[in-house]
Amino acid sequence: MIRLEKVSRTYVTGGGVTVLRNVSLHVKRGEAACIIGPSGSGKSTMLNILGLLDRPSAGKFFFEGIDTATLNDAALSHLRGRRIGFVFQSFHLIPHLSVVENVELPLFYQRVPPTERRRRAEEKLAQVRLSHRLHHRANQLSGGECQRTAVARALITDAELLLADEPTGNLDQKTGVEILALFDELQSTGKTLLVITHDMSVAARFQRRIHIADGLVSEDAK
Ligand SMILES: Nc1ncnc2c1ncn2[C@@H]1O[C@H](COP(=O)(O)OP(=O)(O)OP(=O)(O)O)[C@@H](O)[C@H]1O
Ligand SMILES: [Mg+2]
Repeated sequence: MIRLEKVSRTYVTGGGVTVLRNVSLHVKRGEAACIIGPSGSGKSTMLNILGLLDRPSAGKFFFEGIDTATLNDAALSHLRGRRIGFVFQSFHLIPHLSVVENVELPLFYQRVPPTERRRRAEEKLAQVRLSHRLHHRANQLSGGECQRTAVARALITDAELLLADEPTGNLDQKTGVEILALFDELQSTGKTLLVITHDMSVAARFQRRIHIADGLVSEDAK
């Protein structure tokens, strides 16, 4: 499903910093892996490329065999909107919208009718145990509630690829375990999952662990 071939990412700011160096990676459909590594090693940079939010400076990224460099912005946002769910490290919720409106948003862009949109959003929010917060504005939520809202929003399109950047970082242990159980369930339904984590107990749940150090894949254990 995912193939990176010698991908590098260089930021021009600060005199040109290379954050990913020649990373090659292959993730099959239905596979679940975690990405671990020190702060600043390039994990989010890599996930952003995989989520089509950023492009490599060099090398190639194939999504389902398609060379993503050949896609225009419209094609990229189509793929991103329908086939990839993304949980951001900093959530990216829209502060003045309610919880349920935030979760519905991807379906709004797909022109799903309002009643169906609402029904599906409420269903996903029940899965992350936020049914009691549907009409709170996002800026009135706790960190863990923001995170659960972000997970519900990533799941709403039933995308086949779920990318999550520290999805349990702000959760208490019980809620974290519930989110991970949800991920297990997704995996059992054939979704492809890539999860960045600092938490070794989270990492231990994955069959495959991709270690990133200083912009390189230093170890890829299955
Ligand atoms: N837009 C940018 N411009 C310049 N440098 C950047 C930019 N984004 C990230 N970096 C730098 O790239 C490096 C890798 O960042 P990245 O966010 O990928 O790290 P990370 O592994 O996700 O770290 P963390 O665990 O702290 O989230 C860092 O040194 C960061 O400062
Ligand atoms: Mg990061």
